[in-house]
Amino acid sequence: MEALTPTSPADLDRMFYRPSDEFFSSNAGQALTYDDVSLATLYSEILPRDADFETELAPGLLLRLPVVSADMDTVTESRMAIALALNGGLGLIHYNMPARQQLSEVSRVKNHVHGLIREPIKLAPEQRIGDVLALIEEKKFSFSTFPVVDGEGVLLGLLPGHCVRPRFAPRGVTEAMIPRTAVLTIREDELGDDPITRADRFFTENIGIHKLLVVDASDRLRGLFTLSDIERITQERSLRTKPARDGKFRLVCGAAVGAPRDASGELDRAVLLDHVGALVERGLDAVAVSTAHGHTRGVGDAVRAIRSAFPTLPIIAGNVTSASGVEFLASCGANTVKVGQGPGSICTTRVVAGVGIPQLTALYVCSKAAAGCGVALLADGGITKSGDIVKALAFANAVVCGSLLAGCPEAPGQIMEINGKFFKQYRGMGSHAAMKAGSAARYGHAKDSAQKSAAEGVEALKEVSAPADIVLAQLAGGLQSGMGYLGARTLPELRNNARFVRITAAGMRESVPHDIIEVKTGNS
Ligand code: XMP
Repeated sequence: MEALTPTSPADLDRMFYRPSDEFFSSNAGQALTYDDVSLATLYSEILPRDADFETELAPGLLLRLPVVSADMDTVTESRMAIALALNGGLGLIHYNMPARQQLSEVSRVKNHVHGLIREPIKLAPEQRIGDVLALIEEKKFSFSTFPVVDGEGVLLGLLPGHCVRPRFAPRGVTEAMIPRTAVLTIREDELGDDPITRADRFFTENIGIHKLLVVDASDRLRGLFTLSDIERITQERSLRTKPARDGKFRLVCGAAVGAPRDASGELDRAVLLDHVGALVERGLDAVAVSTAHGHTRGVGDAVRAIRSAFPTLPIIAGNVTSASGVEFLASCGANTVKVGQGPGSICTTRVVAGVGIPQLTALYVCSKAAAGCGVALLADGGITKSGDIVKALAFANAVVCGSLLAGCPEAPGQIMEINGKFFKQYRGMGSHAAMKAGSAARYGHAKDSAQKSAAEGVEALKEVSAPADIVLAQLAGGLQSGMGYLGARTLPELRNNARFVRITAAGMRESVPHDIIEVKTGNS
């Protein structure tokens, strides 16, 4: 590279703060990760709040927040996927569960209408008020208004809370309920593209009514909205990024699959394609062929088979860390390639196998190939703070988070208390326990030999965190700040504007709170 003689402030900046090609070429042969670098600030006319996160992972798969939740059995099932999509991101439902269960998880996301209680507690006409009082006591319900339906689910009336009193205990429910003819309802197909706004209008127009019952064409109860939920959601809406939705206004949802093999060790196309077909029928927006080593014949065969059977289905595939790996998966038909081998917080691949590339260099190298092949990249693993997301998006179209989301109430698993603190389990999909539960193939092992195979992940705990809405809002806030400092209104501008410097251990110490006694963390 030609030496620059700095003659102007711009020359000086250019000499010390380098665009990615110059920076990574001058570091060729050594691999760097997020904390090895920092980004230089640039002249900016962008306020953080003006930053636009829109990112396209595949034709028709548009996210409004470049965050994907990891397909791990302690991170993403339907609750997490719903939270991600409501905040503009994408959840990848893991595949450490029976195929039928994965289909139901996807259906839950695709059928989710935010604020609509799909399975409200219903009463049968033969019940007495005394039964209702006992039910409330037993289940500790905080509400006392219930729809009454017949055996077919057809709406008969609504039992109002003011009738649910001990003095009326012997009375029948039908005697006390508001009859069907006097109950205001809405047909499911009249909810339109924006059910919340529709329900909000209903409650404004009907003072004193606190429940809106939703019915189908045969007057069967399909769900209910409550005034308090709608008020909360409408208030939150102003804070929230826009949801990521499909063309039918449903939340987007992804699901991971493996590359199943038959007895002869070849790809079991029938099993794979039947399952992907069933997922597509449920409205799946992207399938992720998710394995530890994606630059392999098995993964290539799986991606090719899915591509030829489902020509327009967005396919995510991985994981790789090389330009050839990206090119290979792109040539097989993937739209989006997951990059990351060993950066994850629960990963031990680098220790166990001696393999893997520190994540930022892997992303840079892969991004060079991705640009040539027209595929998007996901930066998978190792994201521990919002600043890492800003750095990752200099090369990738979105990031995959496991650890940052595993403590949220929306992640699968029970909360446990240890010495007065609350935790949730978080485990690597290559840990012995997860492999035994089904993920061994992802690491190229047989399920029944999982205990004897070398684990490539650990079982850990995460302290219970705020709900996903809050965690994602904090990540989005950090990303907005980063884009403001880089003068980037959009993610392509972020990529274009990023200028890198290498930081030392002392630089890293300086970068985090130091020489103070911290009494409140930045996020508390
Ligand atoms: P974070 O850092 O967000 O990383 O916790 C999540 C990503 O880690 C990968 N993953 C694993 N990698 N052994 C590995 O080497 C494992 O057991 C393991 N489990 C998950 C995966 O890519 C995930 O998205």
